[in-house]
Amino acid sequence: MTDKKHPLKLVIVGHVDHGKSTLVGRLLHDTPSLPDGKFEVIKASCEKRGMPFEWSFLMDALQTERDQGITIDTTQIWLRLPHRDVVIIDAPGHKEFLKNMITGAAQADAALLLIDAHEGVREQSKRHGYLLHLLGVRQIAVLVNKMDRVGYKEEVFRRIEREYREYLKSVGVEPTCFIPISAREGDGILGASAHMPWYKGNGVIEALDHFHPATAEDHLPLRFPVQDVYKFDERRIIAGRIESGAMRVGDTLLFSPSNAKAKVASIEAWPEKERIMQVSAGQSVGITLDDQIFVERGQVASHVQHAPMITNQFRARIFWLGKKPLERQKRCKIRLGTCEIGAEVKIIEHVIDADTLAQVKAEQIERGQVAEVIFRTRGVVAVDDFNTNARLGRFVIVQDYDVAGGGIVSTQGFADQRTGERTAVKSKNITGVDFGVTPEQRAMASGHLGGVLWFTGLSGSGKSTIARQLQKRLFDKGHHVFALDGDNLRKGLNRDLGFSPQDRSENIRRVGEVAALFAESGTIVITSLISPYREDRRRVRAIAPNYFHNIYIKASLAACETRDSKGLYKQAREGKIAEFTGISAPYEEPENPDLVIDTEKLSVEECVAQLVNYVEHHLVEPVSNLAMEDAEGHLRDYAGTGI
Ligand code: ADX
Repeated sequence: MTDKKHPLKLVIVGHVDHGKSTLVGRLLHDTPSLPDGKFEVIKASCEKRGMPFEWSFLMDALQTERDQGITIDTTQIWLRLPHRDVVIIDAPGHKEFLKNMITGAAQADAALLLIDAHEGVREQSKRHGYLLHLLGVRQIAVLVNKMDRVGYKEEVFRRIEREYREYLKSVGVEPTCFIPISAREGDGILGASAHMPWYKGNGVIEALDHFHPATAEDHLPLRFPVQDVYKFDERRIIAGRIESGAMRVGDTLLFSPSNAKAKVASIEAWPEKERIMQVSAGQSVGITLDDQIFVERGQVASHVQHAPMITNQFRARIFWLGKKPLERQKRCKIRLGTCEIGAEVKIIEHVIDADTLAQVKAEQIERGQVAEVIFRTRGVVAVDDFNTNARLGRFVIVQDYDVAGGGIVSTQGFADQRTGERTAVKSKNITGVDFGVTPEQRAMASGHLGGVLWFTGLSGSGKSTIARQLQKRLFDKGHHVFALDGDNLRKGLNRDLGFSPQDRSENIRRVGEVAALFAESGTIVITSLISPYREDRRRVRAIAPNYFHNIYIKASLAACETRDSKGLYKQAREGKIAEFTGISAPYEEPENPDLVIDTEKLSVEECVAQLVNYVEHHLVEPVSNLAMEDAEGHLRDYAGTGI
């Protein structure tokens, strides 16, 4: 069956001299996709002028007509294949092309990548492979062209195939196939070539016919970014455009990132002619819900089972067009769907010169450059990986009220931060058990409440030193106290984790869960972990808000570096430790800590004394101040107010 509605969007990359136009000319002719008589006219005109015929003239001829606006239907070059139409997206230069792909003006489903058999794999070919990696094109046929110039020799083809496959693998690209061709002589284009009996695979046209166009938007999971919420009498109408998928009356919608759920009560239509039961991608609609949950612009509705990812960090490939360079850790805004949120580039992995595709390390991204970066947003946002759903996998960057760039999201390697029932608990059929000893009873027995003193601060700020002495002091007072230390836990519970943002998140989450359990058992827990990200600390606190006390062990980077108790700063400066907090990875200061301990101004003893006071006031006094008889009820109230 021919799929005319969804043509395959194809890009052809390769050095000009590697035979791109010849290939296109040949494909136009052999498919056949040329207007009737075109080929004959061009051939005759060559003969008349005494010029040898070149295949590239066919493409040039279409190009000229297009430029002069003669033919209406040639804004893009179309190939008619047995199973589908292919449209070749023109790529005038890398820069233009990257910009179009990243900003969404064009999107290729597949690529033909040309290599000259005579020249072999050159720097250029590598860059072209990298270009495809950047754009996330997954269907790639590598064409080793000009086989006629190397005597159609199998070993030449195999050598190039081996070398290039290895390179592509190193950048994470897996080509669909390698085809030996001679575009000029017509070998390997359609069917077997008499010159290369050793090659048993498909010709270019068959390979193209096996590629798939991108999944149509209405076949993807539902994404309905909320544009506005209108109040009409009693009803609240949620308006927006269905970017992908479909929605029916009665469907349960999950709003992200708020995680609230409600059913679609009605789909409103203007003018109200008939009751609409279903809407799909491309339609702008207003809906009402069966429950008055809080919904606002920027949220995205999906179905529960196919929700987008929620995260405050993701990798992105961006194209920068701003007047000023984009700097690391400088505030900007990103617009993703209808959500606009403060963000910053946390790490610039590398910058790619859009003309030459050379990769360079850089501190900032200049106008016209492409870069791979890690973005961090101020709060969590709902995103999709660009490759699974471009609608929520693409964003624009706003700087000084202007759109100054665009980017595509890669969520690979980043954890979904959705909290709540959908992702929090994987197991089914589990029931919480109440063991009957209450926190109040435990507090009465030990004379203090359980709690977590969550120390955060740079490496070398004094967390472990203070924790050690504080534990000793509290222990000597007869308290139940236990210290959980980042370095120690990384040898056991967290031995599988490193220092990437997602590993740190998981590190913090695990320790937070363990600390909450200890606290529930009535223990005073002192945790000393750098815990550099605000969002991770916020999440940990959300595990058991009443138990957690956020304590900032404060010392400037300069002071920590001078102390350098473990010699790690020196190594980090020498580039021997990657992603080192304060040097090559960020530390986000707490905004509202419960207590700040300034280790630059105070001695260790003074710091410990301050903490002992804090513990007395918050964990001991509430218990000791009470007469035995009404303690339980009172403590319950006290615990409820957020100790
Ligand atoms: S956290 O960021 O995930 O909270 P954690 O407190 O567990 O870190 O571990 C920090 C300790 O690991 C530091 O005190 C230091 O001894 C060691 N370390 C090793 N590599 C790094 C790194 N890249 N960044 C920070 N600390 C590191």
